[in-house]
Amino acid sequence: MRRDELLNALGLTPWRLRGTATPNADAGAEPQQQHIAVDLANALPREPQPEKTPSALPAMAQETLSPDGRAQRIAQLSWDLFAADVAACTACDLCKTRTKPVPGVGDVRARWLFIGEGPGADEDRKGEPFVGQAGKLLDQMLAALGMKRGNDVYIANVLKCRPPNNRAPTPQEADACRPYLERQIALIQPKIIVALGKSAAMLLLNTDASIASLRGRVHRYREAPLVVTYHPAYLLRNPADKAKSWEDLVFTKRHLESVLASEC
Ligand code: URA
Repeated sequence: MRRDELLNALGLTPWRLRGTATPNADAGAEPQQQHIAVDLANALPREPQPEKTPSALPAMAQETLSPDGRAQRIAQLSWDLFAADVAACTACDLCKTRTKPVPGVGDVRARWLFIGEGPGADEDRKGEPFVGQAGKLLDQMLAALGMKRGNDVYIANVLKCRPPNNRAPTPQEADACRPYLERQIALIQPKIIVALGKSAAMLLLNTDASIASLRGRVHRYREAPLVVTYHPAYLLRNPADKAKSWEDLVFTKRHLESVLASEC
């Protein structure tokens, strides 16, 4: 699909930033990087691996650790143990009602990290984030930027297990899942984090401020620059705000390009 067709599908046809180079969103375009497979993390480590890599702990063993001990253990996990560890997690009750855990998906060396709220019904069935209607919109927005999940993009959630009836995460659930998201951020070392919606913004920025007040500037999560935009599910309910979200993504892309240029 061509970029103008994608923008059309997003309801954004007339909108374009002056001076913005048209991204190549041709479906046939070869992605620049293809590092999706998790096992590549071993071939191309981003940080020194601990001498003795702890194993993914089965549920019973996980339960014996204090919250601090648990967080420290998760902070040492390598990619090849990460998904199994999430699958064995019993730190909150969501493990009892989920179908599949949804650890995250994408390029483990991505510059872009998108963080949503938590799996919905489709994600819970498939074990992959953003595969339902909201995910389709996210994919369209990525394509309009000339990007694609898995290529320089990693997608994660605040919660790795579906909250029943798609309710928002409780603070206790978000806290219990936080060490996993922190480990993903530490392993990926993204150049930019995009917080999609309130849950991600609240957790990463420790704020209750509205998305409207957090948009349009670059925040920080530890060393990583972070921008905030509307959650795709919100955009499906409020299509008039799609243009604002597109504006946020173009702003983010420009920021990243200027950071990368200054590093050359
Ligand atoms: N909404 C989210 O926040 N994450 C998903 O993975 C799907 C829908």
